[in-house]
Amino acid sequence: MDKIAILDYGSQLTHLLATEVRRLNVYSEILDSETKASDLAGYKGIILSGGPSSVYDEGSPQVDPEIFNLNIPILGICYGHQLIVQAFGGKVESGLVKEYGKASLKIVNNIGLLEGFSVNEETQVWMSHGDDATKLPDGFQTLASTKDCEFAIIGNPERKIYSLQFHLEVAHTVKGKEMLANFLKICNVSYDWNLQDYLDQKIQEIRREVADKKVFLLVSGGVDSTVAFALLEKAIGADKVYGMFVDTGFLRKKEVEQVEAALKSIGIEDLNVYRGSNQYFTALEGIYDPEEKRRVIGDLFLDIQDTVSRDLNLNPADWLLGQGTIYPDTIESGGTKNSQKIKTHHNRVERIEELIKQGKVIEPVKDLYKDEVRQIGKLLGLPSEMIERHPFPGPGLAVRTLCTPPNLPEGTNLASTEINNFLHNNYPELNLSALIAPIKSVGVQGDGRTYRHPLILNLPTMSAVFSDEQFNQLLDVSTALTNQFNTINRVILSLKEPVSNAELILAQYLTPERISLLQNADAIWNEELKQSGHYTKIWQAPLVLAPIAINGEKFESVILRPISSKEAMTADVYPLSGSTLQEIVYKLSKLELSGIFYDLTHKPPGTIEWE
Ligand code: XMP
Repeated sequence: MDKIAILDYGSQLTHLLATEVRRLNVYSEILDSETKASDLAGYKGIILSGGPSSVYDEGSPQVDPEIFNLNIPILGICYGHQLIVQAFGGKVESGLVKEYGKASLKIVNNIGLLEGFSVNEETQVWMSHGDDATKLPDGFQTLASTKDCEFAIIGNPERKIYSLQFHLEVAHTVKGKEMLANFLKICNVSYDWNLQDYLDQKIQEIRREVADKKVFLLVSGGVDSTVAFALLEKAIGADKVYGMFVDTGFLRKKEVEQVEAALKSIGIEDLNVYRGSNQYFTALEGIYDPEEKRRVIGDLFLDIQDTVSRDLNLNPADWLLGQGTIYPDTIESGGTKNSQKIKTHHNRVERIEELIKQGKVIEPVKDLYKDEVRQIGKLLGLPSEMIERHPFPGPGLAVRTLCTPPNLPEGTNLASTEINNFLHNNYPELNLSALIAPIKSVGVQGDGRTYRHPLILNLPTMSAVFSDEQFNQLLDVSTALTNQFNTINRVILSLKEPVSNAELILAQYLTPERISLLQNADAIWNEELKQSGHYTKIWQAPLVLAPIAINGEKFESVILRPISSKEAMTADVYPLSGSTLQEIVYKLSKLELSGIFYDLTHKPPGTIEWE
């Protein structure tokens, strides 16, 4: 089988790149960034991935320059692009304007990688970088540019080396697949890889891995662990899989009953439900830091599994721990050599990592993305209503309920004058005003984690009424703001009256009362999305509870976060407007809430969840 090598410089998207190559039916492998040219001679093409470092930093990962003499086609992406620019005498510098998210690419030369494109054609691409190539390397020509990035695609057709600043592997780079397909054509590879073969191989692999043991599987009722459950039962038989669903107290309203019923409907009768909410609330008392919350939750899953195993007299030597981990869980938790930690997914806490090292964990879908897990689910015969549910994180509403310490943290109340001047000078016709919110959320920018404030944006009047055109303008404003100001990583639009004052409510932890408020709001939100027909078009729609009281009121606020995505590595804001949005705001206003906001942030710079 012909192979493409991907050298991993630590991007959040390296694995996705490998998957995208396989989706074009070509086998690909991820290799260490330091792989020597002599070990790459058997590959039909080499891709240098993105990464969080700067090529000019001391100790940053480099490439063996000999690979450029192998006469194998090479593609550089983001950090990989900058390595190529540097290797061929170009220049890389810290960019004046950083670019995160959407950008418009203009084709100037339709050769090689851009065969089939038209000169002057414009197409949407997804950027995530702080550094820029400022001088074209020798022997290269410019193939395409964006407003802020002249050398967005460059190429040296004689040497079959192409290089681009943006990420072609994400769904939001609209024609990325065509560019990748062109690269594979340049590599002259054979097209002989598919998902059914992968499934058959996986079943054999699971049988080998489990051998004569059994699997204790932690089930969340979501797509991933259900597919993992079905896959394990198919591979080793139902009598060798013990599935346990932990009710953490952070599930959606009536979720336990729904999950039990759904699993029964597909013949999984042997689900054991553990009622753990009291334990979770107790363990999380006084904890407000997002990473700390995630660690406590992940650890408690393991404690509960230990207790149950002991109660059942299971001999630890005979059992493996099963999890429905998928690839974004691993990479976002900093799971590869050059990558940064964005957030610790609940199934990647330290204790799990330790068990993995000891060979005590089995994760049958860990190499897959959500869309592939869904396809595998389909191949296994799971019903579509189960497969098409919105993804829900293991820590559940706990990571959608922001918490605060007992005392006001330093640097909480930031002046917004500069941002208001920027809005006034650049978008005078929109009449916008803004206020930096006194809370923080997690973002991903240039392959690194950020933890910054959201910016509250006000339209001059009651904001839930806006046209589609106005909405698109607001999304552009949001991108411009997060590119320009590094104090913020999100922009949220007030859907009620303009916000003149947002007060942090202190000492807010995870309590049954707060979770119950969010469950009620979340139930209204999801019901409205279903009734209006948006639910199936939206990829995921978190509702976030934030301890900020608006305009002198005393209640907390909520943020709507509907997004479109394919595999969760990038996302864009899903547009809602008109009567649907007004109805949602009207119904949510009946709860004890002050602000209601709409998250206008793509990923990057924001992550899908807020913590
Ligand atoms: P972010 O927020 O990082 O999320 O853009 C990407 C996807 O992962 C889900 N997510 C999790 N899933 N355990 C999970 O099983 C976790 O700890 C976790 N954190 C985030 C998130 O809902 C989204 O679909």
